[in-house]
Amino acid sequence: MTIHADLRGKRTLVTGGAGGIGLGVVQTFAANGSTVAVADLPGPRLDASCSALAGEGFDVFAAPGDLRDGDETHRMVRDAAERMDGLDYLVNVAGHPVTLEIIGPGDLDAQTEELWAEALSVNLLSAFRTARAAAGYLRASKGAIVNTASMSGWRGGGTSTPYSVAKGGIITLTRELARGLGPDVRVNAISPSYVHPDSTNFPLKWDTVFADAEKLPLGRPGTAAEYAEVCLFLCAGASYMTGQTIHVDGGWDA
Ligand SMILES: NC(=O)c1ccc[n+]([C@@H]2O[C@H](COP(=O)([O-])OP(=O)(O)OC[C@H]3O[C@@H](n4cnc5c(N)ncnc54)[C@H](O)[C@@H]3O)[C@@H](O)[C@H]2O)c1
Repeated sequence: MTIHADLRGKRTLVTGGAGGIGLGVVQTFAANGSTVAVADLPGPRLDASCSALAGEGFDVFAAPGDLRDGDETHRMVRDAAERMDGLDYLVNVAGHPVTLEIIGPGDLDAQTEELWAEALSVNLLSAFRTARAAAGYLRASKGAIVNTASMSGWRGGGTSTPYSVAKGGIITLTRELARGLGPDVRVNAISPSYVHPDSTNFPLKWDTVFADAEKLPLGRPGTAAEYAEVCLFLCAGASYMTGQTIHVDGGWDA
C-alpha cells in the first residue's frame, strides 16, 4: 500500500469483505486504524477471515447477512453500526457474476427473468439497500460511501448483459446517491477491470484474464490492495469529490 490515512476512531462497514477486493479493503482500512464490520454471507469463510484479521490485532468483526434480502441487509447494517456506535464509511464491494459461463449479448434466450432478477439484486440493489440502511448514520458522521462498479458497466462486455447492466446501474446509483445525500455524505465508486486471481474468488477463466490483461497499458491485472487504496482515498480524502466513478483499470479505458 502506498497511501496512508489516520482512521483511528473511524467506523467502516465493508460488504463482500470476507474475500477478494473486499478483504483487501478490510485489511487496508483496519491497518490504517479503523474499526471494520465485515459484511458477507454467513459461513466459515467469513468466520475464518475475521478470526485471521483479529489474530493480527485488527479491530474487525463479522456482520453476517445476505444482501439479496432487504430486511436482512437493514438488520445487518443497523446491528453493525450500533455495535460501533455509528458509521463513517460504507464500502460496497459485494457482487457476483451470477452465471459461471459467459452469456453473449446476442443470446437473449439465455438471459432469463431469474438471471436478470439475481444479477440486479446482488450487484445493484444490494448497494442501494446498504445505503438506505446506513444513510442516517452516515449523515450524522458526515461520512462517505464507495460503491464497486466494473468496466463492463461502462462499456458492456461482462459475463452477461444483466451483470453489465447492474454495474452500469451502480454508476448511475452513485450519482443519484451523491445528489440525494449531499452535502453531508459523499458518494463515489471504483470501476475495476481485471483482478489478479490471488485477489478474487470470482469464477473466471484465468488464462483468458491474464491474456487480456497483458494488452492493457499496465500489462497486468490489479490486486485487491491496489483497488483498496483508491477506496481509502475516496473515503479519507477526496473532500471535493462526489458522484464520481473512478476507473481503476490498468489503462483499460485509455
Ligand atoms: N473479479 C473481477 O474480475 C471483477 C472485475 C470488475 C468488477 N468486479 C467487482 O468487484 C467486486 C468484488 O469482486 P471480487 O473479485 O472481490 O469477488 P469475490 O467473489 O472474491 O468477492 C465478492 C464477495 O461478495 C460476497 N457476496 C456475494 N454475494 C453476496 C450476498 N448476497 N450477500 C453478501 N455477500 C455476498 C461473496 O461472499 C464474496 O466474499 C464485485 O462487486 C465485482 O462485481 C470484479
